Amino acid sequence: MKTLGKLLLVSYLLIFAVGCADNRSGYNPLADFEQLDPATIFAMPEAIPSPNYSTEQLQRGRYMVGLLGCGSCHTDGALVGNVNQSRLLAGSGTGIAYSSPFIDDFPGIVYPPNLTPDMETGLGSWTMNRLVQMIRVGTTDHSSRSLPVMPWPAFVNITEEDAFAVAAYLKSLTPVKHQVPSNVSRGQRSVAPYVHFGVYQSLPTD
Ligand code: HEC
Repeated sequence: MKTLGKLLLVSYLLIFAVGCADNRSGYNPLADFEQLDPATIFAMPEAIPSPNYSTEQLQRGRYMVGLLGCGSCHTDGALVGNVNQSRLLAGSGTGIAYSSPFIDDFPGIVYPPNLTPDMETGLGSWTMNRLVQMIRVGTTDHSSRSLPVMPWPAFVNITEEDAFAVAAYLKSLTPVKHQVPSNVSRGQRSVAPYVHFGVYQSLPTD
């Protein structure tokens, strides 16, 4: 009986929400969202000098990673404008919605992974080739393609040399142990927080 009551209440709320959306009277799909500015300017960590890569390569990689804004997604707190300086490039506990929260009550969420070379939680076991491939064409070892939330389509014109410098720099960072939450599929409720990027076009008024 109690469950039936709950069910009825839920369907009533759903009808109410749909009703509002249909006639657009006072329905605000952004009501549950807060507008924030992501942090885009912060110093990239120094790489540890290594016999495998030249100083020029590591400096170039650090410059490129700062310029391409990898840390704005792959650093805790950066997506919400509050960078955790002790976890630079070590992944984000705040995810990014890849399906529209206006359409899905529970959108799909991806959590930008740890890019430091920690063996368990980061890129410690990744080969240089795998990293270069991920940066240039968004594919993993098994040729499965990452969602374009990771903006690999924007990096498609990067030269092999620059992609290699980025990979060398990431491989030479101090490993930081930090496990990001697992990605959440569309329709499942996410326990960890997430942001949503969007461009909204005005609708015709008549
Ligand atoms: C707009 C946010 C964003 C930016 C900017 C970004 N990434 Fe990502 N990246 C992601 C997300 C989200 C994933 C996870 C994608 C998935 O699970 O399909 C990811 C995945 C990756 C992976 C795969 C790691 C793994 O463990 O699977 C690598 C490597 C990577 N990014 C490197 C970079 C580098 C290098 C840059 C800068 C040149 C960069 N990313 C910029 C969001 C971003």
